[in-house]
Formats: sequence, structure tokens, C-alpha cells
Amino acid sequence: MAENFKEWLEELKGRINIVDVVEGYVTLNRKGGKYWACCPFHHEKTPSFSVDESGVFYCFGCHKGGDVISFVQDIEHTDFMGAVSILAAKAGMSVPEFSHKGDGAAVSKRKRDRLYALMREAAAYYHACLMSEAGRQALAYLDGRGISRSTVKSFGLGFAPQNGLIEHLREKGFGKDEMLDCGVAGESRGGRLYDVLGGRLIVPIINNLRQVIAFGGRVMEKGEQPKYRNTKETVIFDKSRELFGQHTIKKAMIEGAVDSVIMVEGYMDVISLFQAGIKNCMASMGTALTVQQARLLKRYADKVYISYDGDAAGQKATMRGLDILYGEGLSVKVVSVPGGKDPDEYVREFGKRGYMDLLTQAKPLFEYKLDKLAEGYDLSVAEDRGKYAVEAVKVLYELKNPAQVEVYMDYISQKADIAKPVLVKQYAQGGEAAAKPIPKLELTRKRGKYYNAMRYVLYALFGGAEEACEQDISQYMTDEEHKAIYLEYERIRCTREPVLDDLQALADKYPEVEEIFREGKRVTEEQAPQLFRDCMQSLEKEKNRREMAELTKRIDGEKDPVARDLLLAHYAEIAAKNKK
Ligand code: UTP
Ligand code: MN
Repeated sequence: MAENFKEWLEELKGRINIVDVVEGYVTLNRKGGKYWACCPFHHEKTPSFSVDESGVFYCFGCHKGGDVISFVQDIEHTDFMGAVSILAAKAGMSVPEFSHKGDGAAVSKRKRDRLYALMREAAAYYHACLMSEAGRQALAYLDGRGISRSTVKSFGLGFAPQNGLIEHLREKGFGKDEMLDCGVAGESRGGRLYDVLGGRLIVPIINNLRQVIAFGGRVMEKGEQPKYRNTKETVIFDKSRELFGQHTIKKAMIEGAVDSVIMVEGYMDVISLFQAGIKNCMASMGTALTVQQARLLKRYADKVYISYDGDAAGQKATMRGLDILYGEGLSVKVVSVPGGKDPDEYVREFGKRGYMDLLTQAKPLFEYKLDKLAEGYDLSVAEDRGKYAVEAVKVLYELKNPAQVEVYMDYISQKADIAKPVLVKQYAQGGEAAAKPIPKLELTRKRGKYYNAMRYVLYALFGGAEEACEQDISQYMTDEEHKAIYLEYERIRCTREPVLDDLQALADKYPEVEEIFREGKRVTEEQAPQLFRDCMQSLEKEKNRREMAELTKRIDGEKDPVARDLLLAHYAEIAAKNKK
């Protein structure tokens, strides 16, 4: 029996074979001592995703790589503990509960498991009710909204009879406190338990481990209030950290790499779009987006479409949500649905095609902001144009890089019909007033430790230096251009020794190659070996620093104390390495 979590984890890792795990998601072919497949993390036609029996995977195309746990994290869009529990289930092991110092507040895992079991039982009960005589009216309601039986099944929709759940759960051995703690039951003054969602249509909220964590209950009579009642926040449901639709989007992503998420407001929007064949949707469940939700979303894709009802996206609270998404590094586009419809209504009327058309017309966040702002002015009037330009330029302070400032400066210039140099001046002035750093208005020159080091390492690689050819330098790359250059170079090197013409072709395609040669040429032969070592060391340090930053974020967001400790230990390891 393992004494602590680390030991237990080793045992788990010993019991699972990465090849078996990966095979559960993609078809692998054995070739040259490795297993190969088309990468499940990016689109490709020829396999560059490899799995090694030693326990690691690596994609030569998108450079994703890691061990079996990080593979499951990525493919299941879950965190460390989520991946561990999936793997444990595969290996037939249960995640143990190790005593934890100072852990008074944390609810024991056994208790949480009971609550999950209760919620699953309740969901099954509600679903069975919907499909039985009791659910006839509810089913008719769903029919009226055009929701098919297969969609009902995919989302596990249900119906809550006035009474019945409480008795059912009691028969299944659940106690009063458990029912209250889950939020499915309320207690009357007389001490009687009742189903808080009684009489409502049930939408289960399922997390990314496919556990039922809450329910939304919709009234079916027009005008009744509230339209939706949701089970309260509980130890297994923290609304600010969840999104609706995770289990369906995850399935869609495994079936065919999707590179974006569509954020909608309501349950019904997700359900309806799904039925129409647009399966990469999630709902924020009516509230303003939080940082935790943005991070959750980022596990699924880097691109997000915001498709809120009517002009909800323009409202203040929602705008803040959009800024949060942008702040987390997501690329944000805003979809506008015409006619004050919500996505559900629109897709039912105009079909998948119609809605997809809206997606292609979606505006990048800042274009949306600048257009939105313009609605308050009459741009055919000179005075208004000036006023607009002043405000519009302020919007640009939110942009994270100068290249984008440059682009949107053009946009404003055209829109307001004001010469760009004037706007630049305005921008600089306002910048002082707002006491914000003013990004230079030129394309970002790539500078800094990383660039100095990586450029030289690439130079050494191009020169055929042995120590450079033996390294997997892709793991240190952060610059997209470097990644692309490296990939092309390696592709050639797989088949033959690259020649000068190859490098010339690369240089024609990527301006950065020019830069690499210009700086590399300055190094003398005596300097070369030491410089190379220094560069590698500095890249290693940069990489560790990035990992530490990433870990810090994860530690902040990790609720599970055991996982947190593990992350902290991992952080300490890297920090120690980096001191040397
Ligand atoms: P909507 O009113 O847009 O819901 O609220 P909807 O999903 O389109 O519902 P239908 O089409 O009228 O059936 C968006 C979301 O806000 C939350 C729910 O999560 C809902 O899906 N909400 C809304 C509540 O929690 N309570 C409410 O009373 C209303
Ligand atoms: Mn709706």
C-alpha cells in the first residue's frame, strides 16, 4: 500500500501503458520503434504524432509533448487531478485519500464521492421520469421546441415530478443531509424534504469528468418565475468555475479537432446548436464570465466566439467578460445575431448554414469595440468625428502589442477619416495623461534573451554543429516563426543533408532567417562552443521560468490540497534547478 500520494502515483504510472491509453483516442501505427498517428491536437494529414513506450508522446508538427498524465490532461481538457482520476479508473485503482495536515476546511473525498453518486442517481431518475408517463407534458414541451430524442439523450435531459426524487434517493440509501448538501432537496418549516426543482424540466450540468454537479430546472408554463431555478453552489459545484456543455464539446473535440469555442448564454443555445451539428459550444450560464471560466475555456481552444443574445455583448458586465478572455490570451471574436434573436432561435430558423455564416462575419474584439463606440456618434459631422477619434484612441491602450495598435490605428483613421499621424499624436498625449507605457508604433522588433540565444542555436544548427543537431531545441521555442522555421528545416533533414539552397529558400520565406545569419556570422570560431553552451543554458532557464509562471497559475486555481502540494513540490524542483 502506498504511503503517500507520490508513491501511489508511481504505482499508477507503473500500471498503465501510455500506448494503451493513447490508443483509446487515436489509431496508432508502429514504425521504427515508435507508434505514430495523426496528431489529435492539431489538423494534419500525415502522421507526426509519436508515442514512445518509455512513456512519452511528442508531436513533431505542433510540438505538444509530455507524459501519459499530460496527454490525458490535454485530450480530456482537464487538470492534473482530473487526469489522474481518469487514469486511475482505467487502471482499476481508486484515488486514495492521504491524510493532509491543516486540511480542516477541505471536504473529505469520500463525502464528495457520495455527492457525485447522488447527483448521478438523481439525473438518472429525472431522465427516466421524462421518458415515462409522468414526463409526457415535458416531452411535448421539448417536441414543441424542436428538440429531438437523441439530443435529449446526449444532454441527459429530464423531468422532475412534484414529488418522487426524495423517496427515490432514500430508497437508494442517501440520507437527508446528503440531499440537502447536493442542493436537490429543500426543507420545509415542518422539517419535510421537498424537491427544489419539482415540476420543472431538468438540464443536468456535467463537468469535464462527466460527473453531474448541478441541475438547471426550467418552468414550462409561460410567465412563471424564475424561468430557471438552479441547484445551489455546493462542495461539488462552484458556478464561477464551471461552464455548461463541457462533456459535449469534449466529445466533439476528440472526434475531430475543433480549434474554437463558441460561448453562448443559455443552456438551450448549447443544446440547439449541438443538435444542428455545431458542437463546440459552451454556456456561461447567464452570469458574467470569470477569470477561472476563461482559464477553463482556454483548455479547449485559443479562439473564442462570443455569441450572446441580442446585444448582450455590448453590455458593461459582458464587456468585462470579453476583456477577461482577452486578458487570458484568447483570441476573441464577437458574433452578432440579427433581429434580437438568441442563437437557439436563430439556428432553428436558419439552420447550421445560417449560423455558420454569422460566425464568418464575427468581428475581432477590438473592431467590435470601435464599431460599438462609433454608434454613439454621427461620423458625418466633423465635430463628432474628432470626439470619436479621441475616445477610440483610448480603447487602443487596452491592446497588448504595438503591432495591433498599428493595425487599429489604421482602422480608426479610415472610420473617422482623420489622418493617422494626428491619431498617433493623440495616442501619445493621452498615454501620458493615462500614465500608461506607450508602445512604439512600429512592428515589434524581436529582442531579449530568448531571441539572442535561440537565434544562435539555430545558427549553429544550420551550420551543422553536432551539439545543435543532437538537441531537441523545439522544446525551448516560444516564437511561432522559429517553430515554423525549425519544422521545415527538420523535415528536410529527415530525408537528406540540407544544402545552401534550402537555407536560401527558408530565408526567402522567413525574414527571421536573415536575422539569424546576420547575428550568427559575428561569432568567431573560438567563441562558438562556449557561446553555444551559454545559449542553451539561458534557453533552459527561460523555459523553466515559463513553466514556473504556468505552475503559479495552476497552483492559484487548484482547489485540491493534495494536487496543490504536488504542484508546489514541482515548482520548488524547477526553482532549485534554475538557481544553479
Ligand atoms: P436565457 O433566458 O437566455 O435562457 O438565460 P435560455 O437558455 O435561452 O432559455 P430558454 O431558451 O428561454 O429556455 C441564459 C441563461 O441564464 C441562466 C440559465 O443558465 C440560462 O440558460 N438563467 C436564466 C438562470 O439561471 N435563471 C433564470 O431565471 C434565467
Ligand atoms: Mn433561449
